[in-house]
Amino acid sequence: MRGTVPALELLERTRSTLPTELPVLLAGDIADEGDVQTALEAGADAAVLGTRFLLSEESRAHPRYKQTALVAEETVLTELFGLGWPAAPHRVLPNAATRRWLPSEGREPAWALAAQRTLTPLAGRLPERLARRFAAAQRPALPLLSPSPPVDDAPLGCLLEAGPLYAGQSVARIGDVRPASALVAELTP
Ligand SMILES: Cc1cc2nc3c(=O)[nH]c(=O)nc-3n(C[C@H](O)[C@H](O)[C@H](O)COP(=O)(O)O)c2cc1C
Repeated sequence: MRGTVPALELLERTRSTLPTELPVLLAGDIADEGDVQTALEAGADAAVLGTRFLLSEESRAHPRYKQTALVAEETVLTELFGLGWPAAPHRVLPNAATRRWLPSEGREPAWALAAQRTLTPLAGRLPERLARRFAAAQRPALPLLSPSPPVDDAPLGCLLEAGPLYAGQSVARIGDVRPASALVAELTP
């Protein structure tokens, strides 16, 4: 999520720095069996996949979040949904909130980040249930946006347009929702 260096490049640098007996797991932009194979051939001991399992039947992402991810072609790296989660850039799908607050190149307005950071110690202490209710009430037009994504057992509110739809860059290459067991079987060389 936070990375900006392509995973295979980072692997090469990491592998050459670490003692060979230390296992290295590679995450980032791995979507299919071919990617797993490439990661292993490049020196990883295992591959870690996030977005592929977001789009599994077992994932608790809200079904409409999954639908949005299925057709998504791009992601944005931002701190926009950082209320209660200090200084943690995250990669998300574009929605009304990112379109409203993120210029085509650059960051959200400094005043919005400052307001968010001021309220973060308080927001970070909210019990999870309350935090989810708060998140469902947020709107794209007000840049006090929490890190709670739309999940299948919490109020949806405006979260599809005002919440973080976390996804990696691999999202553009994933076009179905499958059972996790089928994915694991298929991804294992
Ligand atoms: C829905 C979702 C939630 C994630 N949450 C976190 C998180 O809370 N902290 C973190 O460090 N990485 C998080 N990640 C990143 C994954 O751990 C993993 O590094 C990343 O998804 C790998 O890239 P890929 O999605 O292209 O497979 C999340 C990823 C997804 C898809």
